[in-house]
Order: sequence, then C-alpha cells, then structure tokens
Amino acid sequence: MECKSLKRKIIGVTGGASGIGLAIVRKLLAVEAKVAVADLSPQPEELANNPNVIYTKVNVTSREEVHSWVEEIVEKFGRLDGMCANAGICPVENGVASDDVYRRIIEVCVTGVWNTGTEAYRQFQRQKGGGVLVNTASAAGLKGYRNMAVYSTAKHAVVGFTRCWSLDWAPEGIRVNAIAPGFTESPMTDAVIKDFPQVAERMIAAIPLGRMGKAEELADSVLFLLGDTASNITGSILVCDGGMLNS
Ligand SMILES: NC(=O)c1ccc[n+]([C@@H]2O[C@H](COP(=O)([O-])OP(=O)(O)OC[C@H]3O[C@@H](n4cnc5c(N)ncnc54)[C@H](O)[C@@H]3O)[C@@H](O)[C@H]2O)c1
Repeated sequence: MECKSLKRKIIGVTGGASGIGLAIVRKLLAVEAKVAVADLSPQPEELANNPNVIYTKVNVTSREEVHSWVEEIVEKFGRLDGMCANAGICPVENGVASDDVYRRIIEVCVTGVWNTGTEAYRQFQRQKGGGVLVNTASAAGLKGYRNMAVYSTAKHAVVGFTRCWSLDWAPEGIRVNAIAPGFTESPMTDAVIKDFPQVAERMIAAIPLGRMGKAEELADSVLFLLGDTASNITGSILVCDGGMLNS
C-alpha cells in the first residue's frame, strides 16, 4: 500500500493502547508518522521513549480531557493532520442491557466519538487546510445483531456522524470516513472467546472467510483512509469483516 503521504504527518489515535488502536499506532510509526495516543490504560512499553509518540491518559467521554489532549498535540508536534476516533467498549448485554451498561456504551462509543471528532474538526479549522478523520464503527453499525442492541445503536450513531460530518466539513477540504470491523482478534474479543466459547464459535462459523479479522488488517484499512490514496473518498464506511455482513 502507498503510505508515503503519511510520513511526518501528525495523527491522533484514541484507544491506541490495545487491539486495533495499537495496530494502527504501530503501522503509523512504521511509515514514519508522528502519533499522539490517547487511552485510559497505561502506555504499552513498546511505545515508551519514542520521540515520535506522545502518550496521554485521556477519557474520551470528557470534552475537557479531549480538548486538552488536542492542545497538547499541537503544542508538542505543531499541528494535527489526522485523527482516528477508535476507542470503544463492548460489554456483554445479555438481551436487555442494564441502564448502567447502556450509559457506559453510549458515553464511550457515541459521546467519545463526538468529542474526538469535533475537537479534531476545530483544530483542522484553525489550520485552514484539510484534515482527515477516521472513525471506528462496526459491522454492528450497519446491521442488527442479537444481544447487542445498545452497542449496535451506538455504532449506527458512529456511521451517522461519519456520513453527516463528511457532508458538513467537505467544503473545508476535510475528509471523514469510518471502518466497520467484523469479529476481529483483540483483547475485546479475547474476553468473548474465553467467557462464551460457543458464541464465538458460532460467530466465526458465520464468517464467509472462515476466520476472525486481524487487528493489523483493520489498521491497513485505516491507513488507506488516512492517506492521499483515499483523497477522493469521504463519507464511506469501509467494511473489513471477512464477508460477515453479507452472510
Ligand atoms: N474487536 C472487534 O471484533 C471489533 C469489532 C467491531 C468494532 N470494534 C471497535 O474497534 C474499536 C477498538 O476495539 P478493540 O477490539 O481494539 O478493543 P480493545 O479493548 O482492545 O481496545 C479498546 C481501547 O479503547 C480504550 N478505551 C476504552 N474506553 C476508553 C475511554 N473512555 N477513553 C479512552 N480510551 C478508552 C481501552 O482502554 C482500549 O485500549 C472499538 O471502537 C470497538 O468497538 C471492534
């Protein structure tokens, strides 16, 4: 893949300590981008002492924390070229979720993307020259799945933000796209496999390619959307699910 355009670009990644987010960070560093990682979890050792990484503890549900993080990126790296609103959670819903689970999912997956996307937008506006946002949605943001009513609703909202912002921000040269992962290997799904092995088995059996996605494959899709190869793509939802949505 042609990723030369990302060299020396300044890219923010939320949820970059783990899974798909960490795979995005690794691939961005490999193409010599500078990466600002925001996560609730401690910094992974592999990112420590790297001059091309800023690691900040940020709760994406907080407007203030996301705002300060974007200010920090600009202070330390000088600007912001792209943002990946990737942080998310997928707790077990078991039919009808509790109100607490409902609030947590909506706060992280919807308000978190709202805070991250709009703070990135404000910075792109200040710079007066493009900018690119890639949201992490889900196959569950394009189709209903059992026992995922809240998560699926939250990810439909991420698809909604992506489509609407792509229209609203296009006049300023800002592109907005999303990836829609299917069932993908990460610490998030490790928990499902461990606690509900039969559910996981059924989900994998329903994937036409017959296997889970790899975080690196999702990261490749994100780098494509971030880079100039995708310069005419905005408002798209790039499904990377081994064919799951069509089955
Ligand atoms: N793994 C899958 O099968 C799958 C499928 C579809 C969509 N997704 C989406 O992909 C994204 C990444 O998921 P993953 O599989 O890599 O999971 P993961 O649990 O490995 O990583 C998620 C990261 O987000 C961080 N995070 C959670 N809440 C946060 C908050 N409030 N503020 C800041 N950081 C926070 C976590 O600490 C973690 O590092 C999520 O949006 C998820 O919904 C994953």
